[in-house]
Amino acid sequence: MFGMTSNENTNVDALQLLKRDHDEVDGMFKQFEEIKETSEDSEKEALVAQICDALTVHAQIEEEIFYPSARRALDAEEGKDLLDEAAVEHQTLKDLIERLEAAPTDDPLYDAGVKVLSEYVKHHVKEEESELFPKIKSSAMDTEAVGRKLADRKEQLTQSGGRARRSNGQQRAASGESRGRRKGRAASAGDDR
Ligand SMILES: [Fe+2]
Ligand SMILES: [Fe+2]
Repeated sequence: MFGMTSNENTNVDALQLLKRDHDEVDGMFKQFEEIKETSEDSEKEALVAQICDALTVHAQIEEEIFYPSARRALDAEEGKDLLDEAAVEHQTLKDLIERLEAAPTDDPLYDAGVKVLSEYVKHHVKEEESELFPKIKSSAMDTEAVGRKLADRKEQLTQSGGRARRSNGQQRAASGESRGRRKGRAASAGDDR
């Protein structure tokens, strides 16, 4: 809460933190499935922005902190293929996210884009949780020390990146809104457009 930093979280296990992130994003994808047919475009766009923010921050803390620690903790043979593959999958994830963020919600392929992203994430998460994490568990990695680093970096990125992205979203929402208001004013001024 206010004034609290993640340094004060005494027990942050890296694997638990990453698993929680995975579950949180999975929940948001499920939420999208539930609302996609009935919700306003702006609501869908806000949820997708949240998903993309969460995935971007998650991928970044893994790349900056978790994957390098994993490479050090696992012996070269054991970790290399898995971690190389994970790095390539992150690239694909970023491409999918970028395309989705650029697409207007009324794009006929928008919902399909979200679905493909969710399936790709599911595949990647499954590999991390069922192959990489068990190897880490039996390795020498100090998962609490790494967890604290992940939590700190996540907090930093959530504050900076999230704010920048949210303000973009707000700009888009605001311009949509002002179009609405302009229409409203024009109508009330008897100016039919
Ligand atoms: Fe990952
Ligand atoms: Fe992950």
